[in-house]
Amino acid sequence: LLRTDIPEGLQRLPGPKPLPILGNVLEVGRNPHLSLSAMSKRYGPVYQIKIGMRPVVVLSGSDCVREALIKQGEVFAGRPDLYSFHFINNGKSLAFSTDKVGVWRTRRKLALSALRSFATLEGSTSEYSCKLEEHICKEGKYLVQRLSSVMEVSGSFDPFRHIVVSVANVICAMCFGHRYSHDDQELLNIVNLSDEFGRVAGSGNPADFIPFLQFLPSQRMKTFQNINNRFNVFMERIVREHYSSYDKNNVRDITDSLIEHCEERKLDENSNLQVSDEKIVGIVNDLFGAGFDTISTALSWAIMYLVAYPEIQEKLHQELKDKVGMARNPCLSDKSQLPLLEAFILEIFRHSSFLPFTIPHCTTKDTSLNGYFIPKDTCIFINQWQSNHDPTLWKDPFSFSLERFLTADGTEVNKMEAEKVLIFGLGKRRCIGEVIARSEVFLFLAILLQKLRFHGKPGHLLDMTPEYGLTMKHKRCQLCASVRVPDQP
Ligand code: HEM
Repeated sequence: LLRTDIPEGLQRLPGPKPLPILGNVLEVGRNPHLSLSAMSKRYGPVYQIKIGMRPVVVLSGSDCVREALIKQGEVFAGRPDLYSFHFINNGKSLAFSTDKVGVWRTRRKLALSALRSFATLEGSTSEYSCKLEEHICKEGKYLVQRLSSVMEVSGSFDPFRHIVVSVANVICAMCFGHRYSHDDQELLNIVNLSDEFGRVAGSGNPADFIPFLQFLPSQRMKTFQNINNRFNVFMERIVREHYSSYDKNNVRDITDSLIEHCEERKLDENSNLQVSDEKIVGIVNDLFGAGFDTISTALSWAIMYLVAYPEIQEKLHQELKDKVGMARNPCLSDKSQLPLLEAFILEIFRHSSFLPFTIPHCTTKDTSLNGYFIPKDTCIFINQWQSNHDPTLWKDPFSFSLERFLTADGTEVNKMEAEKVLIFGLGKRRCIGEVIARSEVFLFLAILLQKLRFHGKPGHLLDMTPEYGLTMKHKRCQLCASVRVPDQP
């Protein structure tokens, strides 16, 4: 990493001068998405900073990010060996570990196929096009009831607190075939662990960048380890229960299907046993972990934007009333008829950029980008927030406007503009839950918008300032909702 020789024809990476030991941490500050975007104006789309003692190459700008993650996909597909990542899923995480490329690829394929097959299973009645739709519809309807009753009792509600349980129930149904009550203390404890997790996993852990700090006591690291331990204990119990009741003739959920994969390959003498059973069944930890916090954060931001832009909320409700009506529940196939809602979701992804950076990447061999030399094993940050606010890509990037995603007559979403939004990463490490996530955000929102009107709590200012982390959240707050009364015939 300290290599100073630059191959002929290539240049040394530009970037701010680092201080000894601290590197550039003071300039990076508490809002890296903002400070690193500002630095890209000065140093260009590829530059190097030092966080503590570790050089980090920061990539911004759509062209440069695409060149790295798509054209040079293999080279930029690694994960850095960060100290804190060793505690996630006991160091066996699909998303965060430094698995060798063959192992990671096998696990990723298995995860994708398990997710796909349990999302597209037939629903229990013909009312639903697939299991995923069924789970979201049921949880969405329950969420509407729950918010209405909380409003009756308390007069306001914390949006994240209720959304997170509904969203967690969808992924729980697919992963474990289980649904939790909104008051289940065990689930609440787990879903509420995610804030500190996001802060540290979003590369906020000094010991990842100043190695000797690993040996000093740190409250933040202790909390992070504790969160991961509690999460692992919860998951281990569920996996143990699945092993003890496993029946190969009745594969109930994703956990069972991963166990089935392990059992079947033991019978196949040609099968590849390079990946341990623990690493295969452990995939379910990643799916569950990634499957609720991200979507809940997106939906919780969506409610905040609805409250901040009441005129947009009314237009979205009107679109639903016109295209779906009030008599039946919205479903996934309504999406193409609801361009305004789709534009709203895209604009939330872009404007909030609540996943400001991807998970850190790492180069798997020496390479070059824009004429600059980047050695093997360099930690890479991909600044999605910058790309989503780049004035060369977006007109008035800081204004919240659905029109930017609509065709001139407003009847369709402009696909080219939609594809410019960067929130799921790109290339080899692109999010594997993207299809499920887009479906969930769409259908939960359609159900909520059809039935409820959201507004602020009188006397309380709406604070939309994001708190930095792997996923950026708004501050926990109290909002209000009222039930929409269908028009009299
Ligand atoms: C990775 C975004 C929902 C599973 C990622 C990455 C991003 C992302 C930015 C990192 C890409 C990179 O490192 O370049 C999102 C957003 C979501 C969402 C914005 C919701 C709105 C989900 C869901 C699941 C999921 C629902 C699973 C059920 C994963 C996994 C990875 C990942 C397993 C790691 C992939 C790998 O390292 O190969 N996601 N995600 N995500 N996501 Fe998602």
